[in-house]
Amino acid sequence: MLKIVQTKPYSDQKMGTGGLRKKTKVMMQPHYFENFIQSIFNTIGNLAGKVFVVGGDGRYYNDKAIQQFIKMAAANGVSKLIIGQNGFLSTPASSNILLKYKTDGGFVFSASHNPGGIDGDFGVKYANETGGQIPTSISDKIYESTKQITEYKIYESADIDLSKIGNFKLGDMQIEVIDSVSDYVEMMQNIFDFDALKQLFQKGFSMKFDAFNAVTGPYAIRIFEDILGAKKGTVINSQPLPDFGGKHPDPNLTYATELLNIMNNPNSPDFGAANDGDGDRNMILGRNFFVSPSDSLAILTDYYSIIPAYKNGIYGVAKSCPTSTAVQRVAKEHNLPYYEVPTGWKYFVNLMDSKRITLCGEESFGTGSNHIREKDGIWAILYWLSIIAKTGKSVEEITREHWKKYGRSYYLRFDFEGLDTSVADKLMQDLEARLPKLEGKIFDNFEVSEAHPFIYNDPVDKSSTKNGLIVKFKDGSRIVYRLSGTGSSGATLRVYLEKFSKTELDKNPRQMLDNLLAIAMEIAEITERTDKKEADIVT
Ligand code: G1P
Ligand code: ZN
Repeated sequence: MLKIVQTKPYSDQKMGTGGLRKKTKVMMQPHYFENFIQSIFNTIGNLAGKVFVVGGDGRYYNDKAIQQFIKMAAANGVSKLIIGQNGFLSTPASSNILLKYKTDGGFVFSASHNPGGIDGDFGVKYANETGGQIPTSISDKIYESTKQITEYKIYESADIDLSKIGNFKLGDMQIEVIDSVSDYVEMMQNIFDFDALKQLFQKGFSMKFDAFNAVTGPYAIRIFEDILGAKKGTVINSQPLPDFGGKHPDPNLTYATELLNIMNNPNSPDFGAANDGDGDRNMILGRNFFVSPSDSLAILTDYYSIIPAYKNGIYGVAKSCPTSTAVQRVAKEHNLPYYEVPTGWKYFVNLMDSKRITLCGEESFGTGSNHIREKDGIWAILYWLSIIAKTGKSVEEITREHWKKYGRSYYLRFDFEGLDTSVADKLMQDLEARLPKLEGKIFDNFEVSEAHPFIYNDPVDKSSTKNGLIVKFKDGSRIVYRLSGTGSSGATLRVYLEKFSKTELDKNPRQMLDNLLAIAMEIAEITERTDKKEADIVT
């Protein structure tokens, strides 16, 4: 039975870098989730004939949210939903299904790499028919709609059993529950040489993959263990759990401690990797060796011709502004068109759709290609395994060779978390105002060559985006400042540091960047304004 529920707007439903992300308890407030979904439906308009893909990363409240979503979609006249079994779909798998079955959009219920559980975070990512998350022009309209909402429509019915694959109906709406993994596997088989990868494991190559008890466990087991023949137990924390077993599913040097402990010893497996909660981020490790995501993007680009899907050539490559310049040097060497976009995967979508780029990545452990419109964790791992299979070299050897050829961008990101929003906003505003005066100034051995906000003019839709402040130095070093757009409370200031060296290839990144860090703190008056003497998280 169709029901119309009266509601009142919430004032805080503005999407950030990756959809709407909130504390789980905020999302669970009466009508909060429903208001947001109805606002999206209202913004889309006529839903007759529309087909959407739906899934999530299995975190707490996923099950309830999906059932509410199904009932609202039916009540709003959606024609069909394609849903991952048990409500599970990784973000890359969802983007693939969205494009493969030419649907009108997709919803992933996830707060990505943020912790789950009732005291953790919950989120909604909405992609349109491009397969990628919507541009700001649309998310702004949705935000306007959330501020005016007075009612939402919902079907009153029993829950749909999502554990069974098959076709169902709710009112006039069709529901197809699909295997969450098989379309994704097929796509990977069309990109990479699976026979070569099987041989690698047959020769005794060993690996550990940490799924953090989030959505990628079933994907990783099917691909690495069942198909490629990696040893049973290669995938750890493979069971999706509502609270991720208490883990923080962010694949980086701070949170992937279990995997780092396995990899940081002389008898470790040959290769280590992890994905985040919804499977779009990746971390690559060798034995006792960490590959920075910026270097990873550069290395994958350098080797594109060994991958079956890319061997006939790639269009070009892009990185987000704070990502290191390593990939720029590779693009130059291979004569590839090169782009720099604001932080957030959605900015790559137009470049992919217009055939300007094939590969792209961000320093925040995101790498991907135009096979879908989201970053893709398992894809990045298969790409690395392909390079290893082809060259017979270790992760460390491949990376050191890269530095030898191109030089090394020492790179780290420093996050100052839990800041008062007004303090953080003021810090950025005042810093922006001071930037013109910085040019030509000398700090230590560093002379400022440029200082300005990062402004991106999209070559396709002609929109203009300002995100972050850049200070560049004569020797090629850079500081980028920006505020996070994915937090669920307070503000996080991110400070990204890069220093290039052609000759010093074996230094400790922290030591190499120490002076620059002090300069970055001084220029932005971080300690004076936030009381923080050091960053909370360094990745
Ligand atoms: C962060 C990352 C950004 C990434 C986004 C979604 O956003 O920095 O690169 O695209 O998560 O995964 P931020 O919190 O910095 O706005
Ligand atoms: Zn993610």
